[in-house]
Amino acid sequence: MAVRKIIRMGHPNLRKPARELTDAERDSEEIHRLVDDMVDTLHDYGGIGLAAPQVDEPYRLAIIDLPGGPSRYGDLPAVPLTVFVNPVINVINPDSAGYWEGCLSVPGLRGFIERPQHIEVTATALDGSPIELELKGFPATVFQHEFDHLDGTLYVDRITDSSKLMFDEEFERYHAP
Ligand code: NI
Repeated sequence: MAVRKIIRMGHPNLRKPARELTDAERDSEEIHRLVDDMVDTLHDYGGIGLAAPQVDEPYRLAIIDLPGGPSRYGDLPAVPLTVFVNPVINVINPDSAGYWEGCLSVPGLRGFIERPQHIEVTATALDGSPIELELKGFPATVFQHEFDHLDGTLYVDRITDSSKLMFDEEFERYHAP
Protein backbone atom coordinates (compact mmCIF):
# COMPACT_ATOMS: atom_id res chain seq x y z
CA MET A 1 0.00 0.00 0.00
CA ALA A 2 1.15 3.49 -0.69
CA VAL A 3 0.12 7.10 -0.62
CA ARG A 4 -0.30 8.39 -4.16
CA LYS A 5 0.13 11.94 -5.35
CA ILE A 6 -3.15 13.80 -5.83
CA ILE A 7 -3.18 15.78 -9.06
CA ARG A 8 -4.44 19.34 -8.83
CA MET A 9 -6.64 21.71 -10.81
CA GLY A 10 -4.81 22.52 -14.01
CA HIS A 11 -3.65 18.94 -14.63
CA PRO A 12 -5.38 18.00 -17.91
CA ASN A 13 -6.20 14.46 -16.74
CA LEU A 14 -8.44 15.84 -13.97
CA ARG A 15 -10.68 17.15 -16.77
CA LYS A 16 -11.07 13.91 -18.72
CA PRO A 17 -14.20 11.77 -18.30
CA ALA A 18 -13.25 8.47 -16.66
CA ARG A 19 -14.20 5.12 -18.15
CA GLU A 20 -16.21 2.28 -16.65
CA LEU A 21 -14.47 -0.71 -15.13
CA THR A 22 -15.29 -4.16 -16.49
CA ASP A 23 -16.10 -6.91 -14.00
CA ALA A 24 -12.72 -8.54 -14.76
CA GLU A 25 -10.89 -5.28 -14.11
CA ARG A 26 -12.82 -4.76 -10.87
CA ASP A 27 -11.67 -8.21 -9.70
CA SER A 28 -8.07 -7.65 -10.80
CA GLU A 29 -5.10 -7.34 -8.48
CA GLU A 30 -4.20 -4.02 -10.09
CA ILE A 31 -7.52 -2.39 -9.18
CA HIS A 32 -7.46 -3.85 -5.66
CA ARG A 33 -4.00 -2.36 -5.22
CA LEU A 34 -5.27 0.97 -6.55
CA VAL A 35 -8.15 0.95 -4.04
CA ASP A 36 -5.75 0.17 -1.18
CA ASP A 37 -3.59 3.09 -2.30
CA MET A 38 -6.62 5.38 -2.58
CA VAL A 39 -7.62 4.54 1.00
CA ASP A 40 -4.08 5.29 2.21
CA THR A 41 -4.06 8.49 0.19
CA LEU A 42 -7.45 9.66 1.46
CA HIS A 43 -6.42 9.10 5.06
CA ASP A 44 -3.00 10.68 4.58
CA TYR A 45 -4.46 13.83 3.01
CA GLY A 46 -7.33 13.90 5.49
CA GLY A 47 -10.33 14.00 3.16
CA ILE A 48 -13.81 12.43 3.13
CA GLY A 49 -13.79 11.26 -0.48
CA LEU A 50 -11.43 10.51 -3.34
CA ALA A 51 -12.06 9.63 -6.97
CA ALA A 52 -9.60 7.60 -9.08
CA PRO A 53 -8.97 10.47 -11.56
CA GLN A 54 -7.58 12.49 -8.63
CA VAL A 55 -4.71 10.01 -8.41
CA ASP A 56 -4.41 10.07 -12.20
CA GLU A 57 -6.21 6.78 -12.87
CA PRO A 58 -8.91 7.01 -15.56
CA TYR A 59 -11.59 4.79 -13.95
CA ARG A 60 -15.13 5.33 -12.69
CA LEU A 61 -14.14 4.42 -9.16
CA ALA A 62 -14.40 6.46 -5.96
CA ILE A 63 -14.17 5.97 -2.21
CA ILE A 64 -16.12 7.83 0.44
CA ASP A 65 -15.44 7.78 4.17
CA LEU A 66 -17.78 10.19 5.90
CA PRO A 67 -17.50 10.25 9.67
CA GLY A 68 -20.90 10.91 11.23
CA GLY A 69 -21.70 13.00 14.26
CA PRO A 70 -21.98 16.68 15.08
CA SER A 71 -20.64 19.11 12.47
CA ARG A 72 -21.20 22.64 11.27
CA TYR A 73 -23.99 21.14 9.16
CA GLY A 74 -25.75 19.48 12.09
CA ASP A 75 -25.68 15.89 13.24
CA LEU A 76 -24.66 13.79 10.23
CA PRO A 77 -25.17 10.11 9.50
CA ALA A 78 -21.89 8.23 9.00
CA VAL A 79 -20.98 6.64 5.66
CA PRO A 80 -18.34 4.06 6.62
CA LEU A 81 -15.50 3.65 4.12
CA THR A 82 -17.09 2.36 0.93
CA VAL A 83 -15.75 1.71 -2.58
CA PHE A 84 -18.06 2.67 -5.44
CA VAL A 85 -17.46 1.13 -8.86
CA ASN A 86 -19.25 2.66 -11.87
CA PRO A 87 -21.60 4.76 -9.69
CA VAL A 88 -24.69 6.45 -11.10
CA ILE A 89 -26.69 9.23 -9.46
CA ASN A 90 -30.41 9.58 -9.84
CA VAL A 91 -31.93 12.83 -8.53
CA ILE A 92 -35.07 12.05 -6.53
CA ASN A 93 -35.91 15.67 -5.75
CA PRO A 94 -34.18 18.55 -7.58
CA ASP A 95 -34.70 21.01 -4.69
CA SER A 96 -31.22 22.34 -3.98
CA ALA A 97 -29.34 23.57 -0.96
CA GLY A 98 -25.85 24.98 -0.66
CA TYR A 99 -22.82 23.87 1.29
CA TRP A 100 -19.23 25.04 1.49
CA GLU A 101 -17.14 22.55 -0.45
CA GLY A 102 -13.42 21.93 -0.61
CA CYS A 103 -11.43 19.51 -2.73
CA LEU A 104 -8.07 17.78 -2.35
CA SER A 105 -7.40 18.69 -6.00
CA VAL A 106 -8.11 22.37 -5.29
CA PRO A 107 -6.17 22.80 -2.03
CA GLY A 108 -6.54 25.89 0.12
CA LEU A 109 -9.88 27.00 -1.33
CA ARG A 110 -13.58 26.76 -0.38
CA GLY A 111 -16.63 27.42 -2.48
CA PHE A 112 -20.37 27.61 -1.83
CA ILE A 113 -22.22 25.25 -4.19
CA GLU A 114 -25.91 24.47 -4.52
CA ARG A 115 -26.87 20.91 -5.43
CA PRO A 116 -29.98 18.69 -5.27
CA GLN A 117 -30.42 17.41 -1.73
CA HIS A 118 -32.23 14.14 -2.28
CA ILE A 119 -30.56 11.57 -4.50
CA GLU A 120 -30.20 7.87 -5.04
CA VAL A 121 -26.87 6.22 -5.81
CA THR A 122 -26.49 2.88 -7.54
CA ALA A 123 -23.06 1.32 -7.95
CA THR A 124 -21.17 -1.93 -7.61
CA ALA A 125 -19.05 -2.74 -4.57
CA LEU A 126 -15.50 -4.00 -4.99
CA ASP A 127 -16.73 -7.57 -4.34
CA GLY A 128 -19.28 -7.24 -7.14
CA SER A 129 -22.35 -6.87 -4.95
CA PRO A 130 -24.86 -4.14 -5.84
CA ILE A 131 -25.01 -0.91 -3.84
CA GLU A 132 -28.14 1.19 -3.52
CA LEU A 133 -28.15 4.23 -1.26
CA GLU A 134 -30.63 7.03 -0.72
CA LEU A 135 -29.01 10.23 0.50
CA LYS A 136 -30.28 13.55 1.79
CA GLY A 137 -28.61 16.80 2.82
CA PHE A 138 -24.83 17.15 3.14
CA PRO A 139 -24.05 13.49 2.29
CA ALA A 140 -25.96 13.97 -1.00
CA THR A 141 -23.63 16.89 -1.76
CA VAL A 142 -20.52 14.82 -0.90
CA PHE A 143 -21.50 12.04 -3.32
CA GLN A 144 -22.29 14.47 -6.14
CA HIS A 145 -18.95 16.23 -5.62
CA GLU A 146 -17.00 12.94 -5.71
CA PHE A 147 -18.78 11.46 -8.69
CA ASP A 148 -18.43 14.76 -10.61
CA HIS A 149 -14.71 13.95 -10.71
CA LEU A 150 -15.55 10.91 -12.86
CA ASP A 151 -16.89 13.30 -15.51
CA GLY A 152 -13.93 15.68 -15.28
CA THR A 153 -16.01 18.23 -13.37
CA LEU A 154 -14.72 20.22 -10.39
CA TYR A 155 -16.84 22.04 -7.82
CA VAL A 156 -15.50 25.37 -9.08
CA ASP A 157 -17.40 24.69 -12.34
CA ARG A 158 -20.65 24.77 -10.38
CA ILE A 159 -20.14 28.04 -8.52
CA THR A 160 -22.92 30.48 -9.35
CA ASP A 161 -21.68 33.33 -7.13
CA SER A 162 -17.92 33.79 -7.55
CA SER A 163 -17.78 35.99 -4.45
CA LYS A 164 -18.30 32.71 -2.60
CA LEU A 165 -15.03 31.18 -3.76
CA MET A 166 -12.28 31.94 -1.26
CA PHE A 167 -9.21 30.83 0.64
CA ASP A 168 -9.66 28.58 3.68
CA GLU A 169 -8.28 31.23 6.03
CA GLU A 170 -10.71 33.93 4.88
CA PHE A 171 -13.54 31.37 4.93
CA GLU A 172 -12.84 30.55 8.59
CA ARG A 173 -12.50 34.23 9.44
CA TYR A 174 -15.50 35.73 7.65
CA HIS A 175 -17.88 33.06 6.38
CA ALA A 176 -17.78 29.87 8.46
CA PRO A 177 -21.36 28.90 9.40
NI1 NI B 1 -12.93 16.84 -5.01
